Amino acid sequence: KKKKMGFPKNFMWGGGVSANQFEGGWNEGGKGISTSDTMTAGSHTSPRRITWKNISTGKVGSVELSFGNKKEFLPEGAIPTVLEHEYYPTHIASDFYHHYKDDIALLGEMGFKTFRLSINWARIFPNGDDCEPNEEGLKFYDSVFDECKKYGIEPLVTLSHYETPLNLTIKYGGWKNRECISIFEKYAKTVIERYLGKVKYYLTFNEINAMGMMPYMAGGLIDFSEQAKAQGVHNQFVASAKVVKLAHEISPEIKVGQMLAYTPIYTYTCDPLDQILALETMQKTLFYSDVQTGGAYPKYKLKEYERNGIKLDDCDEDYELIKKYSSDFLAFSCYCSSTITTHNELSENIAGNFSMGVKNPYMKTNEWGWATDPACLRVALNSLYNLYHKPLWIVENGIGWDDKLESDGSIHDSYRIDYLRQNIQSMNDAINIDGVELMGYSMWGCFDLISSGTGEMKKRYGFVYIDRDDKGKGSYNRYRKDSFYWYKKVISSDGVDL
Ligand code: BG6
Repeated sequence: KKKKMGFPKNFMWGGGVSANQFEGGWNEGGKGISTSDTMTAGSHTSPRRITWKNISTGKVGSVELSFGNKKEFLPEGAIPTVLEHEYYPTHIASDFYHHYKDDIALLGEMGFKTFRLSINWARIFPNGDDCEPNEEGLKFYDSVFDECKKYGIEPLVTLSHYETPLNLTIKYGGWKNRECISIFEKYAKTVIERYLGKVKYYLTFNEINAMGMMPYMAGGLIDFSEQAKAQGVHNQFVASAKVVKLAHEISPEIKVGQMLAYTPIYTYTCDPLDQILALETMQKTLFYSDVQTGGAYPKYKLKEYERNGIKLDDCDEDYELIKKYSSDFLAFSCYCSSTITTHNELSENIAGNFSMGVKNPYMKTNEWGWATDPACLRVALNSLYNLYHKPLWIVENGIGWDDKLESDGSIHDSYRIDYLRQNIQSMNDAINIDGVELMGYSMWGCFDLISSGTGEMKKRYGFVYIDRDDKGKGSYNRYRKDSFYWYKKVISSDGVDL
């Protein structure tokens, strides 16, 4: 039986990038150093590193980027820094800084309705706490948004996508310090006022739940204690609420969303203990949307803090703000599901982006162990919509592949088309069968960019191939992949012609 296909007329088809992975120009136009500038390249098998120096001894070194529950991070007295003899893949990235006009024209050619990008905070406030913003940085994004406008593309702007100005880490210890709330508020106000009439949709913190797993990237923390992470994210919740408040005061037209990394959880067995494990694993994610979109700390988290002796530096006003200014919509990333079990001996362990668990025999995985799950978006959309009843926006979904550029400039990425087709079908079912309210779909990495997890270039997501390698060598020329033409057709047919 043929399924009903089709998306609302105003559906926001598009794709996204982040400044640190795509923009480059890391020390141009008055930009300051951000935390992501201190991260080296890695690979699927060797982790990225954060480089450091000890100011008093002059000693330098590096530590592995930690995705786990590591307690120790930098050695005593060390601060993250950029070292001359190291290679940092995001410093040039895909060089959007010098290609933005042509790049946005390519999006226009595909018929994009929306382009998700982040503002590199340190391009606007180089040290985070500067009195005045950097005019050259503001002008850069003015030009970017003007280009978008030419093609009728609505920007969706992430204010902080793993790009905390490094000075905030060094001087304040990052987001564990409450000072960051007002610093961020000032940054957000500057940007929202400046781009009034050009930008209507904002996200505050990319994948706010990354604080639990990658506190340096998510919050500029070098103190990895549970206490610091809890305080760090509490401060981000308060800052987000303040941004919702100020954005609505500036213009009721502006909508501010939360951005959550969401991975549906499947259990490998029907053992009741696996169901409890699933419940507890899901709470680790839902805590963040319960607060930022739901408007209140859930009881299970308060109990956990009590058990673990975590005490927040907070005040009543924080909770009033969180309640009154919860996010207008819930945006999320979703690449695949996680299959988990208490019976680890039954299947091989795998670790994808946020999909830790065991191999699911019903799914295929790519070179980096990320699974393809055709049901994933329908499951995710239903779960989140039925919890919060707020509009949703898929702002990351896609597949990394080591694409091959042919001698005639073509790239045959049928595997990407297959993946996206299945995911779009799943999204279609959530809308047409289940009635989920979905604002848009922003495929991740619409241009090839530096992988956040591995720092590689060869983990390519784009509709557009960018000719540079893992060492930064290449022409930086842009090439349309087969998926470019396919997505153009998907957009022009409003998701019917897949
Ligand atoms: C998300 C991040 O977690 O996953 C992106 O928001 C990231 O920044 C994306 O690029 C894909 O992960 P990776 O490691 O393949 O770049």
